[in-house]
Amino acid sequence: MTASHVDVSAVGCAGSELQEHFEATIARDRRIEPRDWMPDGYRKTLIRQIAQHAHSEIIGMQPEGEWITRAPSLRRKAILFAKVQDEAGHGLYLYSAAETLGADRADLTNRLIEGRQKYSSIFNYPTLSFADVGVIGWFVDGAAICNQVPLCRSSYGPYARAMVRICKEESFHQRQGYELLLTMMRGTDAQRAMVQDAVNRWWWPSLMMFGPPDDNSPNSAQSMAWKIKRHSNDELRQRFVDMTVPQAEKLGVALPDPELRWNAERGHHDFGTPDWAELTRVISGDGPCNAERVARRRAAHEEGAWVREAATAHAAKQAARTQKGAVA
Ligand SMILES: [Fe+2]
Ligand SMILES: [Fe+2]
Repeated sequence: MTASHVDVSAVGCAGSELQEHFEATIARDRRIEPRDWMPDGYRKTLIRQIAQHAHSEIIGMQPEGEWITRAPSLRRKAILFAKVQDEAGHGLYLYSAAETLGADRADLTNRLIEGRQKYSSIFNYPTLSFADVGVIGWFVDGAAICNQVPLCRSSYGPYARAMVRICKEESFHQRQGYELLLTMMRGTDAQRAMVQDAVNRWWWPSLMMFGPPDDNSPNSAQSMAWKIKRHSNDELRQRFVDMTVPQAEKLGVALPDPELRWNAERGHHDFGTPDWAELTRVISGDGPCNAERVARRRAAHEEGAWVREAATAHAAKQAARTQKGAVA
C-alpha cells in the first residue's frame, strides 16, 4: 500500500496529519502530486472529471472527423487532420493523468462505451456543412479554452500540467476555425448563409458546454474548495459570451439571441437562458447523435482489439528477453 492509498480513519493521528498536510498544500496553492496522500473524495472527483474530459476529446474527434474526406482543399484537409489528431493526443494525455490516480485506462474506455461515463454534451450534435468545422473551432474550442485555461492552475499536478500543452493547441484550433469562417464570409452569399446557419445551430449548445447554472450544479462548491475548479459555470459562460460577441461583430454574423446586449452597469453582456431541459436530455443520452457517437467508439475499440493483443504479446516477449539477458 502506498502512502497515497492510506485510509485516514484507519491510521488515527497520523491520518489527521496527512489530512492537515493536504489542506495546507491546497491553501498554499501548491500542487498535489500522485505520491501525496489525498482524501478519497478528491481522488474520485478528479478521476471522474479527468475521465469525462478524456472521453470528450476522443468522442470530439468524430463530428469534425466526418469532414476530413470532404474538405474543400488539400490545405483545409491538412489543417483538419492535424486538429483532429491533436484531440486524440489530448485524450491520451488525460487518460495518462487519470492513471496517476490509480484509474485503469481499459476500465475507463469500457465505462464510456457502455454508457456508464459521460462526455461533453456538445459532441452529440451533427455537423451538417463544412461551415460547422469553422464554427466548432471558434465556439467549441473557444469554450474549451475558457474552461481549461483556469485548469492549468488546478490543484492536481498531472492534470494542471497536461492542460498547459492542451490549451496551446486549443488556441490553434480556435484560430483555425475563425480563419476558416473569415474566408467563407469573404466568399459567396451561399457561403455566408452556411456560416450563419452553423452559428445559429451551435450557439446555444456551446453555452450549455459550461454545464448547468450555478444554483443547480451540485459538485461545483466542493471542486472549488479543493481548487480543482477555479471559476463557476456561470462565470465561465459569461466570460465566453463577452469574448465571442466582438468576434461575431468582426466576422459579420448575428448571434441568435434577441436578449443579447451590453450591460454597462455590470460591465458584461446580458444574454438569454439556454434551454436547460435540452441539456438534461442530451446529457442523459437522448441528444441527436448520442447513440451514433458511442456506437462508433465501441466499433473502433472492438476493431482495434488485435492491435492491443499484438502490443501486449510484443511487450511480454521483450520482457522475457530482458529477463533472460539479466539471468545470463
Ligand atoms: Fe482538445
Ligand atoms: Fe480542440
